[in-house]
Amino acid sequence: MRVGYVQFAPEFGEKERNLRRIEELLAGEGADLWVLPELCTTGYQFRNRGELAELAEPVPQGPTVRRLLALARQGGCHLVVGIAEAAGGRFYNSALLLGPQGVLAHYRKIHLFYEEKNLFAPGDRPLAVAEVGPARVGLLICYDHLFPEVARTLALLGADLLAHPANLVIPGLGQLTMRVRALENRVFTVTANRIGTEARTGEALRFTGLSQVVAPDGQVLAQAPQDREEVRAVEIDPLRARDKRLTRLNDVLADRRPEFYRILGGQ
Ligand code: ACM
Repeated sequence: MRVGYVQFAPEFGEKERNLRRIEELLAGEGADLWVLPELCTTGYQFRNRGELAELAEPVPQGPTVRRLLALARQGGCHLVVGIAEAAGGRFYNSALLLGPQGVLAHYRKIHLFYEEKNLFAPGDRPLAVAEVGPARVGLLICYDHLFPEVARTLALLGADLLAHPANLVIPGLGQLTMRVRALENRVFTVTANRIGTEARTGEALRFTGLSQVVAPDGQVLAQAPQDREEVRAVEIDPLRARDKRLTRLNDVLADRRPEFYRILGGQ
């Protein structure tokens, strides 16, 4: 199975241009699963909710989702893509798993980062895992990486691979934690981060690139540059993630002692 990331610099508000860039970047590239960045068709730094209302779209009937579904159908591939979603008068920072058959998973970011708290509603859908060929794929978005509970829950739900659309701005942080999320759960992770800068609010956000694919032992199988576009896929055996053994006598999921973590249940 081939899985990879699409690292590029979306332009704020330019949905048509961003969609065309995605189509160009994927033309002629072969993989079963591509992960794209968070909010990669709209851009990230909305000045206010009015701007978000103009750019967010309903799922699945919005034109952006329909266009990406057509891309998945034409390419015979699956895409995990971050979009701005409008639903019931609210806005969500969402990730969709799209395939030739349609929308396979729909996740709304549960841990909102920084000014996102003034724009988006926190996610209200369960953590999502869906099948892509032989692999079970779980979704999380950017800052969710800093909550080990998210990756662990997805692993306990059976995910072999965590697809992680991102707009990371703190140098090195998400790339480091996702290596740890991979090895502590013995799963593959694919982080698709964006590059470029947005400075629409008087505050410049510089996105840190370094998209990566990580193996269940924490090894980085592929990593993009900090500041250039890159589309890259690697061959993996997702079934490697079903083996949770660390030593002959240790299995990182079976060795858990949830009775000692009970405080995590309710707080
Ligand atoms: C982030 O959650 N966009 C850092």
